[in-house]
Amino acid sequence: MRSGPEKTGALVLAAGKGTRMKSELPKVLVPALDQPILYYVLRTLDRCGDIFASTAAVVGHKGELVQRYISSAWESVVPIWQHQQLGTGHAVQIAREWWTGLDNLLVLPGDVPLLTSDSLRALVERHVADSADCSFITFSARNPFGYGRVVRDGSSNVASIVEERDATPEQRSLREVNSGIYIFRVSSLLPHIDRLSNENAQGEYYLPDIIDLMIRCGMRVATVMTEWEDEFRGINTQLQLAEAVSLLREDIVRSHLAQGVRMLDPSTVWIGPEVHLGEGAVLDPYVQLWGATTVGRGCEIGSFSILRDMQLADDVRVLSHSVLSGSSLARGARVGPFIVIRDGAVLEEEAQAGKFVEIKKSVVGRRSKVPHLTYMGDASVGEGSNVGAGTVTCNYDGERKHPTRIGDRCFVGSGTMLVAPVTVGNDSFIAAGSVVTSDVPEDALAVGRARQKNIEGWASKRKRLRKGD
Ligand code: UD1
Ligand code: CA
Repeated sequence: MRSGPEKTGALVLAAGKGTRMKSELPKVLVPALDQPILYYVLRTLDRCGDIFASTAAVVGHKGELVQRYISSAWESVVPIWQHQQLGTGHAVQIAREWWTGLDNLLVLPGDVPLLTSDSLRALVERHVADSADCSFITFSARNPFGYGRVVRDGSSNVASIVEERDATPEQRSLREVNSGIYIFRVSSLLPHIDRLSNENAQGEYYLPDIIDLMIRCGMRVATVMTEWEDEFRGINTQLQLAEAVSLLREDIVRSHLAQGVRMLDPSTVWIGPEVHLGEGAVLDPYVQLWGATTVGRGCEIGSFSILRDMQLADDVRVLSHSVLSGSSLARGARVGPFIVIRDGAVLEEEAQAGKFVEIKKSVVGRRSKVPHLTYMGDASVGEGSNVGAGTVTCNYDGERKHPTRIGDRCFVGSGTMLVAPVTVGNDSFIAAGSVVTSDVPEDALAVGRARQKNIEGWASKRKRLRKGD
């Protein structure tokens, strides 16, 4: 008798090259929306909660990149090296040391981003209820090309899985295919895993061949047949990736609509899987939200705006064509249209930044305004200040960046060049068109420009001179 609950581990096969993708990146790292394909598979396993005692991923082709991704984003996942990619069966063989101590082993490919935790749970439950030696998911494919076909005997029991390239024309016409997702009782897998042969069209050790081997030894192989094919789509080509991305996009958009986000045209909105949106947020057509962006309640995002890794508190308004990244906007801030905000910029409560403005690594204080045509880099602006149109913080001397500090309640006239490092004290004014090269004390007016000179009668004199030519 077993003591305690069964220990099940999950093994993700992610070592393949993905030749058919024709991509520089290993297939499992190719992005779907803004996350690698592998992210979705690992997230699904994560969502299964404690069903899986541990998870490992087999890495190989450009494995350093895959391993680096895993250790940065999924630190509990164990990487296992398959230095030569000799097939899916070989991948399970080389991971043996990791899985022998388990009671059950789930094996799944790293290229099925649409897979849900419900399906994995159903597979595990069924496997345990049937006391099967192996259970795997099959589905009926509209176009079975490329999948392993599930061959059944006269009493419709599974007999084997035959790969596309090894199938007879008759077998190729079968619609029921292997999802590549299996669960094995470890004690039943062990005696068979080394019996796989590579005598097939690809010269590889195919994991699906184990089905036939197990059945011939009288073992119990069960299938979970599903109707919903989309979920099990393997991504092998750019076309399949594009189709999967479109389904992922729809799924994410729907879940935000269900949470009370309003979208005028959901079919044009793109939202990454790590984005959080508050209730009552409104997204105009053609908005893109990526990375770890958080949008508070009641925010409005205008058309053609692209936000990445942004933190928006409640009631922020982003007008159209705003490109914002890695920065934060406090409650009631208002930005755009046509603005770039980047690299750790902070707009405090009710601050405003407007048309044709770029703000980089700068703080704009409460209720301060930067309404038009400004570049602000490495700067800080206090509360209630106004930065006039065309102001530029000249932060770069060709070698290093320098800071600009503007205090509270300042008025920076239009067309001011602030040559950093420079500090402008509280309550001071700067005359329009000034080039400010030294600090401005509190409560002062700084004028830094050539004095204007008018020459009376100059224009008509010029006209006369020309006539005389
Ligand atoms: C595989 C199955 C096929 C099934 C289909 C479902 C085999 C031989 N065929 O085919 O029956 O219908 O999945 O999507 O298993 N991998 C490794 N090491 C290797 C080879 C592959 O880790 O040596 C990984 C790949 O990175 C990939 C997964 O295994 O994530 C599946 O490999 P892939 O080449 O995509 O198999 P398919 O041809 O799709
Ligand atoms: Ca595949």
